[in-house]
Amino acid sequence: MIRLKNVSKYYKKKEGAAVSNLNLHVEEGKICVMVGPSGCGKTTTLKMINRIIEPSDGNIYVNDKNVMEQNPNELRLKIGYVIQKIGLFPHYTVYENVATVPKLLGWKEEKIRNRANELLKIVGLSPQEYAKKYPNQLSGGQKQRVGVARAMAANPPVMLMDEPFGAVDPITRNQLQNEFLKIQKKMKKTICFVTHDIDEAIKMGDKIAIMCDGKLVQYDTPENILFSPKNEFVEEFVGSDRALKVLNLLKVDTILDTSLPKISIDTDSDVLKKLALKGQDHVVVLDDEEKLVGYIKLRKIVERRSLEKWDKYIKRYVSTIDEDSSLKNAMVSMLQFDVFNIPVISENGVYKGIVNFNMIKSYISEEYETNNIVDKVVG
Ligand SMILES: Nc1ncnc2c1ncn2[C@@H]1O[C@H](COP(=O)(O)OP(=O)(O)O)[C@@H](O)[C@H]1O
Ligand SMILES: [Mg+2]
Repeated sequence: MIRLKNVSKYYKKKEGAAVSNLNLHVEEGKICVMVGPSGCGKTTTLKMINRIIEPSDGNIYVNDKNVMEQNPNELRLKIGYVIQKIGLFPHYTVYENVATVPKLLGWKEEKIRNRANELLKIVGLSPQEYAKKYPNQLSGGQKQRVGVARAMAANPPVMLMDEPFGAVDPITRNQLQNEFLKIQKKMKKTICFVTHDIDEAIKMGDKIAIMCDGKLVQYDTPENILFSPKNEFVEEFVGSDRALKVLNLLKVDTILDTSLPKISIDTDSDVLKKLALKGQDHVVVLDDEEKLVGYIKLRKIVERRSLEKWDKYIKRYVSTIDEDSSLKNAMVSMLQFDVFNIPVISENGVYKGIVNFNMIKSYISEEYETNNIVDKVVG
């Protein structure tokens, strides 16, 4: 879908190449993350794909068409672009920002309005509340959401994203990444995603292109980058904490605890008494669609004798996480909410099990001792 063949860029001949003889192929529907230290040529590469910068040498194909043989303006309308540092138009409202490309494409007013509203919802901003606001009335995370919505407005099959979540705090970034991955699961765009953050690369990339001084050092899956770094540069760039980085790759279902008894809200109080007598401390309460309602600390309420109206003792979990979250997401939530247990739920709220801090800890240390984790991650 995106193919770079021997692409080079010299800004000034005598200074050497900003990008040097780059070969890269991004498959349809996949995210390729370009990562490397500042100045290694990531932005230059991205901008050559939509011809904001002209390559000095080599060829670039988008959807099997040579970009140099296309009108640059038309080309850019077909490629979604999230600019480094967001770059919203400050005098346009959120709505006008999102509507930019559809307007240029001559869409009808109503179609633009529907699409803009739909997109604002997709990126988690209520149109009623945000459409009329100006960029300076938004937080960093909200601006980045608008930037992403703007790039997706005309539903381009290809997207270029230059450090799209760079300007926010780690917790917001984590949320934006998760939301984006969820959107991508449905939309399956072909994406070139630039970051200088290897953790983000590991999390977001189907493949990672590690760059250094304008050259591609390794182009591989996150697993191979972590476990078979090609040289010292990659090894150092990935960092000595790869044990922790593996948490990004493992999903919560690897250690999901499904052993807690589940009861429904209309369960008879005798059942609870029996569970308590068996020494069960904790039960999960679900509604009749298996959706999570909360939990009950059994021992405490059994001591209170009257169990007739046990449902008033149901407590809510302060946080839940999605079933396709990584163990890293689980850890982040635990730290954020200061809890040791987090229930895992499906997209429609159905309870799947619990992840527990100590389980993550012992899993990682055990697996590292036996080196099983390498097999597990690499498959
Ligand atoms: N417009 C420009 N004119 C001259 N040199 C540039 C220009 N833009 C970038 N460079 C140089 O090209 C190299 C790559 O820059 P860039 O692609 O922005 O890197 P990255 O996005 O990886 O930080 C750097 O050495 C940078 O100084
Ligand atoms: Mg850059």
